[in-house]
Amino acid sequence: VMVSKHDPVSKKIRHFSVTACLVPICSLYGAAVTTVEGVGSIKTRLHPVQERIAKSHGTQCGFCTPGMVMSVYTLLRNHLHPSEEQLMEALGGNLCRCTGYRPILESGKTFCMGSNGCQQKGTGKCCMDQRENLSSSLDRKSDICTELFAKEEFQPLDPTQELIFPPELLRMAENPEKRTLIFNGERVTWISPGTLQDLLELKAKYPEAPLILGNTSLGPAMKAQGHFHPILLSPARISELSIVMKTSDGLTIGAACSLAQVKDFLTESISELPEEKTQTYQALLKHLRSLAGQQIRNMASLGGHIISRHCYSDLNPVLAVGNATLNLRSEEGTRQIPLNEHFLAGLASADLKPEEILESVYIPHSQKWEFVSAFRQAQCQQNALPDINAAMRVLFKEGTDTIEDLSIAYGGVGTATVSAHKSCQQLLGRRWNELMLDEACRLVLDEVSLPGSAPGGKVEFKRTLVVSFLFKFYLKVLQELKMLVRLFSMPVSDSSRYPEISDGFLSALEDFPVTIPQGVQTFQRVDSHQPLQDPVGRPIMHLSGLKHATGEAIFCDDIPRVDKELFMALVTSTRAHAKIISIDFSEALELPEVIDVITVEDIPGTNGTEDDKLLAVDEVLCVGQVICAVVAETDVQAKRAIEKIKITYEDLEPVIFTVEDAIKHNSFLCPEKKLEQGNIKEAFEKVDQIVEGEVHVGGQEHFYMETQRVLVIPKTEDKELDIYVSTQDPAHVQKTVSSTLNIPINRITCHVKRVGGGFGGKVGRPSVFGAIAAVGAVKTGHPIRLVLDREDDMLITGGRHPLFGKYKVGFMNNGRIKALDIECYVNGGCMLDDSELVTEFLILKLENAYKIRNLRFRGRACKTNLPSNTAFRGFGFPQGTLVTESCITAVAAKCGLPPEEIREKNMYKTFDKTIYKQAFSPETLIRCWNECLEKSSFHSRRRQVEEFNKKNYWKKKGIAIIPMKFSVGFAATSYHQAAALVHIYTDGSVLVTHGGNELGQGIHTKMLQVASRELKVPMSYLHICETSTATVPNTIATAASIGADVNGRAVQNACQILLKRLEPIIKKNPEGTWEDWIEAAFEQRISLSATGYFRGYKAFMDWEKGEGDPFPYYVYGVACSEVEIDCLTGAHKKTRTDIVMDACCSLNPAIDIGQIEGAFIQGMGLYTTEELQYSPEGVLYSRSSDEYKIPTITDIPEEFNVSLLPSSQTPLTIYSSKGLGESGMFLGSSVFFAIADAVAAARRERDAAEDFTVKSPATPEQVRMACADRFTEMVWNYSLFSSKVIFLCPASWTY
Ligand SMILES: Cc1cc2nc3c(=O)[nH]c(=O)nc-3n(C[C@H](O)[C@H](O)[C@H](O)COP(=O)(O)OP(=O)(O)OC[C@H]3O[C@@H](n4cnc5c(N)ncnc54)[C@H](O)[C@@H]3O)c2cc1C
Ligand code: FES
Repeated sequence: VMVSKHDPVSKKIRHFSVTACLVPICSLYGAAVTTVEGVGSIKTRLHPVQERIAKSHGTQCGFCTPGMVMSVYTLLRNHLHPSEEQLMEALGGNLCRCTGYRPILESGKTFCMGSNGCQQKGTGKCCMDQRENLSSSLDRKSDICTELFAKEEFQPLDPTQELIFPPELLRMAENPEKRTLIFNGERVTWISPGTLQDLLELKAKYPEAPLILGNTSLGPAMKAQGHFHPILLSPARISELSIVMKTSDGLTIGAACSLAQVKDFLTESISELPEEKTQTYQALLKHLRSLAGQQIRNMASLGGHIISRHCYSDLNPVLAVGNATLNLRSEEGTRQIPLNEHFLAGLASADLKPEEILESVYIPHSQKWEFVSAFRQAQCQQNALPDINAAMRVLFKEGTDTIEDLSIAYGGVGTATVSAHKSCQQLLGRRWNELMLDEACRLVLDEVSLPGSAPGGKVEFKRTLVVSFLFKFYLKVLQELKMLVRLFSMPVSDSSRYPEISDGFLSALEDFPVTIPQGVQTFQRVDSHQPLQDPVGRPIMHLSGLKHATGEAIFCDDIPRVDKELFMALVTSTRAHAKIISIDFSEALELPEVIDVITVEDIPGTNGTEDDKLLAVDEVLCVGQVICAVVAETDVQAKRAIEKIKITYEDLEPVIFTVEDAIKHNSFLCPEKKLEQGNIKEAFEKVDQIVEGEVHVGGQEHFYMETQRVLVIPKTEDKELDIYVSTQDPAHVQKTVSSTLNIPINRITCHVKRVGGGFGGKVGRPSVFGAIAAVGAVKTGHPIRLVLDREDDMLITGGRHPLFGKYKVGFMNNGRIKALDIECYVNGGCMLDDSELVTEFLILKLENAYKIRNLRFRGRACKTNLPSNTAFRGFGFPQGTLVTESCITAVAAKCGLPPEEIREKNMYKTFDKTIYKQAFSPETLIRCWNECLEKSSFHSRRRQVEEFNKKNYWKKKGIAIIPMKFSVGFAATSYHQAAALVHIYTDGSVLVTHGGNELGQGIHTKMLQVASRELKVPMSYLHICETSTATVPNTIATAASIGADVNGRAVQNACQILLKRLEPIIKKNPEGTWEDWIEAAFEQRISLSATGYFRGYKAFMDWEKGEGDPFPYYVYGVACSEVEIDCLTGAHKKTRTDIVMDACCSLNPAIDIGQIEGAFIQGMGLYTTEELQYSPEGVLYSRSSDEYKIPTITDIPEEFNVSLLPSSQTPLTIYSSKGLGESGMFLGSSVFFAIADAVAAARRERDAAEDFTVKSPATPEQVRMACADRFTEMVWNYSLFSSKVIFLCPASWTY
């Protein structure tokens, strides 16, 4: 949302976006709040921001869209013509899991300075020119299009139409209220004094009460760690705390200034002052650009940041080395304390007294011969807490390179910011050279002791960065010293004493800048003869796009509270494997508003299945397993009550978390799945070389924006229940509730209006939550609402299966692979769920695009004490195929050939049979490969990458092109069916219902495109209300990429039946209108309602024989990605990605390209940043967006081109379109292999072995440690000989 406040200092209105869930309602006194509903509405007038995001296809599930709209809206309130950099900054703190951000950015760019709507802006070329220049023979055809939306249609932005700041609030701000305001809550009192004196008196009266400003530190601690403060003092109205003073020697900034304001002040000062005075300010500014997102920076205050003293604080290390002073005030008066290591360590003698407040911070100017730098490394470049950061300052004796003063501070290495004070003291008087650097590294490694339990772990990585940052600082200062000497024309004898920096080493200095992504989306235009009314093949906007953008789209939890509704919260296990000895909920039941506790005894029917229980009985199998549930009048009370439930456990053995442990304990969920062809044993005997290796692929959290939720409404009659649920499979919820309650299925109706993202995570799990809530509803007789918060959702539900793969590959010296043996183990968690199916799919799909005569693939699902893993976009393919592609990379390394050559050599070339003997033609695969090579100018860029790598030692580029053969659908016939119900009403309007669920993938839009073509009426006549088990029964989960395929055929069937019935009437009155025909049909008693049915593909797989026809067709695609890595930090930048995908005849290119881009970015997250971390006791650490990093807008490739391969044919699907929901996911691995390529280049140069074990995700830690160099060696040697710390292994990309 946008908050607008009158700023007492500047006397201007400040508009800023905030993270609404962190804003205490009392803090909004005197503020105007604008939500997405206030900006525009489909009922009245759309705001241009809302219109453009929808029409540019920037919404899929739409759950993130209001946030995106408000970020851009706020930006436009402050800057009518923002720059693209400002747009990126405004959106940097927003997350979207569906779109991959590109279309959101495109819509925002239409407001930017000089925007002409051209997608190639910034490249100096227009997309129109580019279209002409497209070199591919196919693209030369005039039917290729690159415009997914028509910019001319957009209404202009008219600032005079914006809401004004309420005059009453303005009056209030101009005559500020001096009296203290007190808001009394149920448990907390909020006190907001009007004067500084009152604040100081209050602080003296309530010394324990915290000052609350941004609430970005206090808020999360209260929510996640249970901190409780009965009194909160809000100094927001005290103008003395918001002052900014510029003096001749420094800047004084009020403690209440937000970090966003601090950023602006520093930018201003830097532009006004000579550079030598701004070293500290520049270092602060650098961190302020990447610290959190803009919303948090708008809220968080400088004072709150300093006083919180988080160990990861980005600013405190810089302020400490910059000799900042804290101006404190109490009733006693004022005093100053230095912001030094003692203050940061929380020493009482160096700290604020309880009755004191921080009034302002003084940050002195730097001086000539003084240099300050700041460094940080996080899981991703922006919007992520740093793993480690540092600030360094050196002052030289004037005109020399002799150190007069030195300060170094690190964050993220201990429980507070740590200063290397002793090391710095020992280095005083030393000259700035390599000898000093070596000594400094040794000293700092000794002093900055990193215990094995350093926050966030990663000890070896952090130690390496401790010295890598020092090296960067050394080089940077050296370079600046040289410049200074040149500037002052010092004698050569002076300047020559500085060591030379080789050109290759200069690459250590530059950080990766945030760039504005560009790209072109290419697709085939519909035939010029296609009637205008026929929407098939056109880039039609998502049906709900405008409603997403105005906030009027209703999600499950937007359904208003129903009469007598109660809220449910789940009680989960805190042990990984234990016997439940007792459960005592007496205290919980005593709390006010708590109604009941639902246990397994309350279940009238079955408690799930033997393998997958709804509620744990006697024994728990993982942390997060649901044991019982509390029902209360409010969600707050329900959550409070679960903390009062006492469960005693007796731990059981074994406790298994990893695949390796499961193998050791022979702990599996299902039998091994195996496919074999040729004679693998013989083939291995005849090959030139054999390589064996291991691949580890981490799991992945779905991170759908809308967490799991359900509303169950019991009816008064006949045990009927209405269930509103966010699911991909309402029939499954219906069936599970039926068996749980022991009532027939026909009493239960499940409704799905829309789902805020699913990605597989809402196939199986919603039935569990639906059933537990239904038990509560039946027991209490009240409607029950169950909404998981993010933490619980991540804790309770599993995600993508982590995989451990072993391979043995035999090949000839020319790279031809003759034999491949892969053994995969997936971590299934504690219950079967979809693990057997995932294993089967994995094995069926492992061969990917390669024809290898002798193959053996084996797979098993391990049973461990983690939450059950489940379906996830790609269903095992993205993990398994990483093993196959890693084999290829390993073969290439052994043969000394580029990986793309090995890929091409071993790819299917002609009509052939897969390992399970299904026949197929790889023609389009080859076309995609050739198109992608050509469009990406692969070969010339490969040469450029090599050139770059020769010239740069500390930065390396990598490039990879990856082919894909992805089979869609389920390997079971019963899944290949669908039904639809189409009603035509007497006014001619049509209601379409089908078995697919709208998850954001645009299935409803596509279905109306089909109905529109078949009935020959415009889409405006058609409507889809919801998916409901009452209208279309026995539906199949919307999954496996075939939702639109099968439901489209069912809708087509229903429409054709109706049209057939109408034919005689139309024939009789060919000039009549649709309305005339419908009226006539009604008069003639012709049914205007029809059920359509599609009896789909006969899927078949015989695992005994290893043969079958399990899949209806394949989607082919190829992606080429280029990256640049920073060998000193492990960071990477995605320079460019080109995707060519075979969509056949796309039903809707905007939706299909959206699916490809969204899946690609999600895949990129899987392979680069998304890392699940568990405690040794099996508790998921990474339970929020702070710890678990899904890609943000700043993570997308700088240039991102997607093209749909001009038409090929697939007779099995609706209008020869292909399902593209999942396949793009795996193409994200091209980024992974490009990183691996860059790492290999670094290792080659450093003479390190090239065959390293691959681990996904390729986090900065993995990359840094793989780029073995003198610093990793230094850390290794230090560890070997240090008595303080024991490290596990040398630097290599290994487990
Ligand atoms: C999503 C998110 C991402 C983040 N990312 C980063 C990051 O990348 N890098 C980073 O360094 N930090 C990051 N942070 C932390 C953020 O910088 C701090 O939470 C913030 O600066 C605290 O300021 P606040 O105004 O919100 O403090 P509050 O939560 O309001 O208060 C924090 C504490 O400061 C005390 N306090 C505040 N003002 C005064 C005063 N004038 N006198 C005395 N005591 C005072 C309060 O009593 C309280 O104990 C992130 C936080 C969030 C929520
Ligand atoms: S559209 Fe952004 S999260 Fe779904």
